Amino acid sequence: MKKYTTLILVGIILVLAAVLTGVLVFLKNQPPQERAIIQPIATIQPLEANSSPWGVNYPNEYSSLLLTASNNTPTMYGGSAQKSYLLEDPRLVILFAGYSFSHDYNQPRGHENTLIDIRTTKRVTATTHATCYSCKSSDNPGLWEQMGMVAFDAQLFSDMTPNINNAIGCANCHEAGSMRLVITDPAVEAAFQAEGLDWRTFTRQQMRSAVCANCHVTYYFAGDNKVLTVPWANGTRVEDIIQYEDSINFADWTYPNTGTPIMKARHPDYELFTADSTHYTAGVSCADCHMPYVREGAMKYSSHDIMSPLLDPQQSCGQCHTDVDAVLARVAVIQNTVHNAKIGAEDALIDAITAIQAAAANPNSDPALLDEARTLHRHAQYMWDFISSSNSMGFHNPDEALRILGNAADLARQAQMKAAQAAGDPSLLVTGVYDAMDPKPRPVP
Ligand code: HEC
Ligand code: HEC
Ligand code: HEC
Ligand code: HEC
Repeated sequence: MKKYTTLILVGIILVLAAVLTGVLVFLKNQPPQERAIIQPIATIQPLEANSSPWGVNYPNEYSSLLLTASNNTPTMYGGSAQKSYLLEDPRLVILFAGYSFSHDYNQPRGHENTLIDIRTTKRVTATTHATCYSCKSSDNPGLWEQMGMVAFDAQLFSDMTPNINNAIGCANCHEAGSMRLVITDPAVEAAFQAEGLDWRTFTRQQMRSAVCANCHVTYYFAGDNKVLTVPWANGTRVEDIIQYEDSINFADWTYPNTGTPIMKARHPDYELFTADSTHYTAGVSCADCHMPYVREGAMKYSSHDIMSPLLDPQQSCGQCHTDVDAVLARVAVIQNTVHNAKIGAEDALIDAITAIQAAAANPNSDPALLDEARTLHRHAQYMWDFISSSNSMGFHNPDEALRILGNAADLARQAQMKAAQAAGDPSLLVTGVYDAMDPKPRPVP
């Protein structure tokens, strides 16, 4: 009898131990939010623009988000110092001549600075539309819901200002209550739809990148109401976007004295990253590098202090790469190579612009050939800008960045040759115009 009791006891202990191990393994594998021991204590209204009530329930996420306001460390090509791209590379003053980007164009910084930065940039003038607030504020999702995006965008920037009181916040990325990640920008939702995609069916890992596509995508202003539109109707590769904007004859401005209708690319971070980059193909998301899990005492949470991963590579890359120094050395090689290819494309574009300007001023130039030169210039400039305006100096997708910059330089040289042909003037084939320029152009005050 005693023998059986011992056996039963041992059995019970073994079963209990197995159950406990199971529970522990299960808990360890749960995403942090499902492990939260503290139940939500504040009820968050749907689309609540103010992040501080959300912060009552999620203090670590909130306080780390606030840190983005004070980051100011530069890296080799990035970081949060908000340096002027125009002073750093005065070629941009020529390439954006005739457009607001030639007056003021700074490097982005942390999410809590959006309102200060958009309200102080010289790119915003008395005629600017409210559209420019689209990716700057947690007030937007609520305002879009209330008034619709078209009515929002139709207003002037200055008229919208009193309604915009918060920088980027929880409501830009999360649904109140469930805390799930959401697409909040109707233009981005429509763009996914045009691709045949419904973000509501995305996996959690897909959403950890898609939520950044709320803002880190290229766009254009459609029609007189300047309605925010993401040009993905033909696809998200640079060629698809060019084909689409050509099909609707879109131009942001006409380049001075060449007569080229130019379209501006705007930080296509999501498009470049998802164009079969090594990391995207391996299933890595934006949040894996930019929002690594951090530990605060017993709590593990996603850092909402989004910044350059190079400022804390151990945290950002070390979760997957054991030899962080080796990958950092690779980043330096990639960024330097892409930077040099970018400068090469800029020099080719400036030579093309100089030749087209001369051909356009020549009354004997062949108008059809001149138009061909303009089309080549338009496409070359968009390809260059697609990489120039996207963040990370090519790191997000090195192969694609170099492919596109190579094409940009090639098209720009073709544009120059076509202009020389149009004018029947071989002297227009001169190269290195920028290097010969003295003094170098300065931003227009
Ligand atoms: C594999 C890691 C990784 C992934 C994934 C990743 N990034 Fe980055 N990101 C970087 C690195 C490295 C830089 C370069 C930072 C620098 O030069 O200081 C960067 C730079 C940036 C910058 C500019 C920051 C700065 O300080 O210059 C932005 C914005 C950005 N990434 C957004 C995104 C978005 C949006 C996604 C997803 C579509 C994404 N990143 C995916 C590693 C990553
Ligand atoms: C609601 C729009 C919005 C969303 C959503 C958004 N961003 Fe940003 N992001 C911005 C804007 C605007 C800036 C530039 C702010 C400035 O310069 O004032 C920026 C800046 C950045 C920077 C530069 C920070 C620095 O210190 O240099 C990084 C990195 C970045 N975002 C990554 C991401 C990642 C990763 C995601 C997704 C998890 C994301 N962003 C989601 C709008 C957004
Ligand atoms: C730029 C987009 C963005 C903003 C703004 C943002 N979050 Fe997040 N948040 C994320 C992403 C991405 C994750 C990772 C989700 C996942 O892994 O499923 C996340 C995760 C979380 C989680 C789950 C636990 C964790 O830490 O992983 C909580 C809670 C949370 N956020 C709260 C907040 C609160 C509160 C705010 C406002 C103070 C906020 N978030 C602002 C993108 C954002
Ligand atoms: C979530 C995991 C993960 C994170 C985080 C991550 N990587 Fe990677 N990385 C990978 C995978 C997977 C590959 C594919 C090659 C491999 O298996 O090593 C890769 C490849 C690379 C390569 C080689 C790419 C090529 O095309 O040759 C470099 C360089 C690199 N990572 C740098 C970084 C840097 C820098 C960071 C931090 C900013 C980072 N990675 C963060 C998973 C990650």
